Amino acid sequence: MKKPLAMTPPMGWNSWNTFTWDINENLIREVADVFVKEGYKDAGYEYIVIDDCWSLRERDENGNLVPDPEKFPSGMKALADYIHSKGLKFGIYSCAGTHTCAGYPGSFEHEFKDAALFAEWGVDYLKYDYCFKPRNISGELLYKRMSLALRNSGRDILFSACNWGADNVHHWIRESGAHMYRSTGDIQDSWESIKNIAISQLDKTPYTGPYCHNDMDMLVVGMYGGSNNAFIRSEGGGCSDNEYKTHFSLWCMMGSPLMIGCDIRKANQTTKDILLNRDLIAINQDPESRGAYRIKPEPQWFHTNETFMLAKVLSNGDIAIGFFNLTDHDREMSLLFWDLGIPYASGVALSLYDCWEHKELGVFKERFSPVVPARDCVVVRAKLVK
Ligand code: GLA
Repeated sequence: MKKPLAMTPPMGWNSWNTFTWDINENLIREVADVFVKEGYKDAGYEYIVIDDCWSLRERDENGNLVPDPEKFPSGMKALADYIHSKGLKFGIYSCAGTHTCAGYPGSFEHEFKDAALFAEWGVDYLKYDYCFKPRNISGELLYKRMSLALRNSGRDILFSACNWGADNVHHWIRESGAHMYRSTGDIQDSWESIKNIAISQLDKTPYTGPYCHNDMDMLVVGMYGGSNNAFIRSEGGGCSDNEYKTHFSLWCMMGSPLMIGCDIRKANQTTKDILLNRDLIAINQDPESRGAYRIKPEPQWFHTNETFMLAKVLSNGDIAIGFFNLTDHDREMSLLFWDLGIPYASGVALSLYDCWEHKELGVFKERFSPVVPARDCVVVRAKLVK
């Protein structure tokens, strides 16, 4: 039996956050080269995805989508071949509506035709947006349609739904056959945006899991305000390294796909240390892909939505635990092991490993209370020991 797609959250790179409309085949090839040369592929990043703005404004006389010959003069098949030759996978973008969000042709009423064309080109991943959807047709039906078209295209194509969390998508998307689904509006390269997305998804963690992952949007790690789009760049012009570290930790702990959005050709060492943090990636890619749960804080402990602890049960019996302090003040955060299901009387202690310091912290009984700096986090992997 062949391995199903998306057992764990998909990992890759997407052109939108940094480049939006300004894309071309050389850029995509260079990203593939960097993936191999600089360790992204070895760390698990696999899909290289071209977002909106890759086609001409009109279909051809046979009704087919046409890659813009100025941006992609060699055509999509050649680009897919190049990406495959590096052992990587190729993704493209379309839309459930009549047009894409940037106004290029969408796949509405062309679903089976477009899926066949994508399969012919060697596409492995389709991001499917929600702009210009005719009002009198349900989005749910359109995602089911494209899912069937892809599944019957003759090629394994991962289906990445992108309806921004509208229409209670978490209630119907898994049955549609999609492998991941956007559950929020578009991310911006700002701390506010990261924080708002994370908080908005705290009550959605039960809905993520193998074969259909809650997508909190592409990563902004390492962008430092470098988008060519004013909305994405946002006013602050990017985040600090600590904020990017917290962002990556949240996405890893909450089981989001990890789609890099910065220009990795120019990534500095800190960006690489974040994106290639194997301890965090191992948590995100745990084979069971269970959603994290929010640890109920002690009643006497002052808390808001901006300070929370998440636990993710891992397949080998360990627990990944994230202490997130999204406030602007340092905070001591106190975890009672009782709240993880470990009574003191059991004699079970936790041996903690710090996933950012990459070192053992020792064995703890009953509680662990790190001081977490403002806008920062501590992520540990806990092993139960007697
Ligand atoms: C929407 C999506 C983004 C991106 C753009 C492209 O806004 O949510 O991720 O794909 O469209 O136009």
